[in-house]
Amino acid sequence: MDPVTLRTDRLVLSPPEESDADAVIAYATDPDVIAYTPVPVPYGDAEFVEWLERCRTGRAEGTRLAWGMRRAEDPRLLGTVELFGIADGSAEVGYAVHPDGRGHGFTTEAVSRVVDWAFTEPPHGLGLVRVQWRAIATNRASAAVARRVGMSFEGLRRSASVHRGRRHDEALAAVLRDDDRSAPQGWTASPYGWSAA
Ligand SMILES: CC(C)(COP(=O)(O)OP(=O)(O)OC[C@H]1O[C@@H](n2cnc3c(N)ncnc32)[C@H](O)[C@@H]1OP(=O)(O)O)[C@@H](O)C(=O)NCCC(=O)NCCS
Repeated sequence: MDPVTLRTDRLVLSPPEESDADAVIAYATDPDVIAYTPVPVPYGDAEFVEWLERCRTGRAEGTRLAWGMRRAEDPRLLGTVELFGIADGSAEVGYAVHPDGRGHGFTTEAVSRVVDWAFTEPPHGLGLVRVQWRAIATNRASAAVARRVGMSFEGLRRSASVHRGRRHDEALAAVLRDDDRSAPQGWTASPYGWSAA
């Protein structure tokens, strides 16, 4: 698959490059990213190169796509959004942002754009019918993004996730191509306090 660049009001989403090493290492070593994502620990140049290679192989195979989030006026990478497990009309989304870039709605904006594109028919998109999200259930910031992009809560898999040697409840959500993304369902059922709009 050719590299895909997407734009939003504030962001340019473009494939990560070698020159993004320092920015990726900076967010990948953040404690929240370590707490909630499977980044290798420690994370340095070798891990960055391995991830970049995995992104490129995934793009070539059509199974994984990664975008660096950048402000339109500044090429420095704030974080990344990835679609992975792309198969049979569905994919999973993952994201992480450097602490300095959090709280501005950048991730919500970026993921919404990626989901729009993923649902658009080829050749202008992927033609998916489902994009899903999974997270350690206590990850309220990630859940807020999933909800804000219009994902409906699909459930809690108790003790299903093993992360850094501990078991966690895992939260599931997804959005379908034909869903009304302005009316995500089900979040108030969560015991983790995700009901805030
Ligand atoms: C998840 C993450 C990417 C969100 O990035 P972000 O750019 O701050 O996201 P946004 O600004 O688009 O939205 C964040 C939302 O989470 C909310 N939020 C942030 N921290 C929160 C917390 N501790 N509890 C509840 N809500 C929280 C914000 O208020 C915002 O919601 P709002 O739009 O209703 O105000 C970022 O926190 C991060 O990188 N975390 C570590 C990695 C990670 O957890 N990745 C996801 C793995 S599943």
